[in-house]
Amino acid sequence: MKRLLFLTLIVSLSALPALASNNNADQPEPTFYEDVLPVIQENCQVCHREGGTNLGGMVAPMAFTDYKSTRPWARSIARQVEAGLMPPWHASHELDGVFVNERLLTDAERKTLVSWAKAGAPAGDVADAPEAIEWPETHGWSIGEPDLVLDMGEDFFVEDHVEDEYVYFQTEITEEQLPTKRWIKAVEFRPGSKVVHHIITRPLGGIAPGNTPTVHHDGFATLLEPGTKLTWQMHYHKEPGEGTGVWDRSSVALKFYPEGYEPQHVVLNEPLTRFDFEIPAGDPNYTKTVTTKFDRDSILIGYTPHMHLRGKSARYVAKYPDGSEELLLDVPRYDFNWQTDYQYPAPGKQIPAGTEIELTMSWDNSADNPFNPDPTKTVTYGEPTTAEMMFGFVTYADAEAGYVPENAGGLFSSGGNRRQADPERMKKMLKERFDIDWDTLSPEERQEIIQRFRGGRRDGGDAVSGR
Ligand code: HEC
Repeated sequence: MKRLLFLTLIVSLSALPALASNNNADQPEPTFYEDVLPVIQENCQVCHREGGTNLGGMVAPMAFTDYKSTRPWARSIARQVEAGLMPPWHASHELDGVFVNERLLTDAERKTLVSWAKAGAPAGDVADAPEAIEWPETHGWSIGEPDLVLDMGEDFFVEDHVEDEYVYFQTEITEEQLPTKRWIKAVEFRPGSKVVHHIITRPLGGIAPGNTPTVHHDGFATLLEPGTKLTWQMHYHKEPGEGTGVWDRSSVALKFYPEGYEPQHVVLNEPLTRFDFEIPAGDPNYTKTVTTKFDRDSILIGYTPHMHLRGKSARYVAKYPDGSEELLLDVPRYDFNWQTDYQYPAPGKQIPAGTEIELTMSWDNSADNPFNPDPTKTVTYGEPTTAEMMFGFVTYADAEAGYVPENAGGLFSSGGNRRQADPERMKKMLKERFDIDWDTLSPEERQEIIQRFRGGRRDGGDAVSGR
């Protein structure tokens, strides 16, 4: 990149007189080998190559590894980078430089790609090409050769008539698969077919299109024990119609730390969420806020905002005990097709006990939202993509090295065998989010709440669920 900046500097200096006369004729045109390939290597090939990153089942459909395969895409590349659509990254520019997995082009890099396309995509001299990047052998997985691959246990046929379908599978990790407890270093889900919209496998995690595989920073881990029961929630989504049915058997690959390894920090996930919203028909900017408090010193690892087709923006703000505030993440134009994770570089971001994180999300239920399936409908919480969700996932860990929290894996499960909701955590959340006192509720009221959390199928419409 340095070399490029330098090059652009020379180019722009030598072009000064030409610019004055508004004539770029003596500015050398960028060529593929000398100028474009270095930019593409650094910013695009992580996805655009054979065996490129698996983003929750989405794999870049073309490789930009040589001239022949890149040349036909020149104009499309120019369009995509000019519009800011590629490389995919949705955080606001205020946060440039904050996240480790940031994907951004410098102005110079963008200009190089665009002027190259405009100049007719010249190849240049192959002798000027940078050395090809040696991508690590992936064995078909972005995280490298896995230690254990698990799948949902059976083949499942998504029928022709299906548009949205939720199906649940239960599997158990046998002692043969996992003789002793192990600490997880990396997790990569692989959808078994094109119609998988998302997978949530408790307690391992989940994916939706645009997610990158999870690789924990060294010293950070989640626990897996033999006998752990896995619940696979599969969301299939496709155009219904004759001949559209497909078989699926999705899987997940795990990489472990060495046996006997003890991590310093257990990775936890806090879903900032509300279920009590009602987005009026046609409303172009419906907003909801939710706050959660961290009772102990913590390390923030990353964020994944999740809404559906009407999702418009997401904003996370830290409110520190001393009264100051800090913008943690701002996604001004949320794109449902890119469920991006925003990750801090190791070792994460420290926050003091008592810090609150406030999540604000907004939705566009107007006809101006091109993704809106029906602007005449009032929209509430629900599983189908045509209903809405409000989740601001926060991945974090306790700041105290060696501290093993009581609940090691989210709201409804722990890192181990427990599959029940953690009652204390649940009560705390109800109090914080909804000002509901669990202990004072009648059994019917409790049932009602559990129903809403578990199923969340108030907008059941086109959702079907199996087993
Ligand atoms: C994080 C992975 C990733 C990175 C990095 C990335 N792309 Fe892509 N790109 C994709 C995926 C996935 C698609 C397919 C999108 C889809 O199917 O909707 C795509 C599609 C495209 C397309 C085709 C768009 C169309 O539909 O016509 C172009 C052109 C493109 N990328 C250019 C680039 C360029 C140039 C870079 C680097 C500056 C880049 N991409 C970086 C993942 C990536």
